[in-house]
Amino acid sequence: MSVPHPAPLSEASYSAVELLPGDDEVVLLDQRRLPAVEEYVRLRTSAQVAQAIATLAIRGAPAIGIAAAYGLVLAAARGEDLAEASARLRATRPTAVNLAWALERMARAPGDRAALAAEARAIHREDVEACRAMGRIGAAHVPDGATVLTHCNAGALATGGYGTALGVVRAARESGKRVRVVADETRPVLQGARLTAWELQRDGFDVTVITDSMVAQLMRRRGVDLVVVGADRIARSGDVANKIGTYGVACLAAVHEVPFYVAAPWSTVDLACPDGDAIPIERRSADEVTQLGGVRVAPEGVSVDNPAFDVTPARLIRAVFTERGEAAPPGERTLQALQPRSC
Ligand code: MRU
Repeated sequence: MSVPHPAPLSEASYSAVELLPGDDEVVLLDQRRLPAVEEYVRLRTSAQVAQAIATLAIRGAPAIGIAAAYGLVLAAARGEDLAEASARLRATRPTAVNLAWALERMARAPGDRAALAAEARAIHREDVEACRAMGRIGAAHVPDGATVLTHCNAGALATGGYGTALGVVRAARESGKRVRVVADETRPVLQGARLTAWELQRDGFDVTVITDSMVAQLMRRRGVDLVVVGADRIARSGDVANKIGTYGVACLAAVHEVPFYVAAPWSTVDLACPDGDAIPIERRSADEVTQLGGVRVAPEGVSVDNPAFDVTPARLIRAVFTERGEAAPPGERTLQALQPRSC
């Protein structure tokens, strides 16, 4: 169903997800259809929200956490069993720790609809504030006139609004710097070509899409000044899980001496997870690899592997930007130093 989008909490002209007044409907921008169609869909049950997360109608670590929190509000509005709804939402995607983090935070709130709605909106609002704060921190590392390469979509569409990696780009421009973005297309789901290009173009940024296979040559020709990506989970060691292909970009950045940065809210940091090897990596359907836009590009029946994320070792990352400050280089000591004393 198509509906006009509501006034977003993020103050942008569009929003990945919102809870409508009345607290019994969630509206989300269907990211499967972008950039061709800007369609908002209304959801009334937590099962519909879980389905939207699993099928990537909404995606990006912070955004799926917010959507799951709103899904629990719908569960309360319909008198569903909250524990069951929470388990269903949590099972949708294993890698992004923001999903479990948001649901655990919701479990600590009183179980009535009004209190859950207030908590879910607070999670959303705080994410936008975190994006703006880490954006300002990261922007200090962006030289005037820089070309920034990014992978996947870590923008307003992937968060409560504003973005993590793209928040750094937005903040750099807001501080008066000229900035150009190179967006990897990001096979197999094309979040870079479809989503990063859409939101940056819409906001008037200079953005160029390249295929993932072009990064090496671009870096060899000195066409990239720095890399900024988002994250789905940051382990205590400073290892970072992000969209498949990120690790390759980090290796290329190291070879070409291009600074490689990660921007993520504290809700993405999982200090209970020792290192990258302990991060669960989601495996998705073969169709994402064998088909492009519904057209088959590999023979029927061929075996396929489709890990949705990879792990970039901490040693390849110059700094992680969070709303609490930067961990540079990322690791147990620098991450723990950002942890508030009471936790
Ligand atoms: O599979 P997706 O599209 O949910 O993967 C998203 C990413 O890997 C993003 O880079 C990450 O979630 C950071 S979003 C601010």
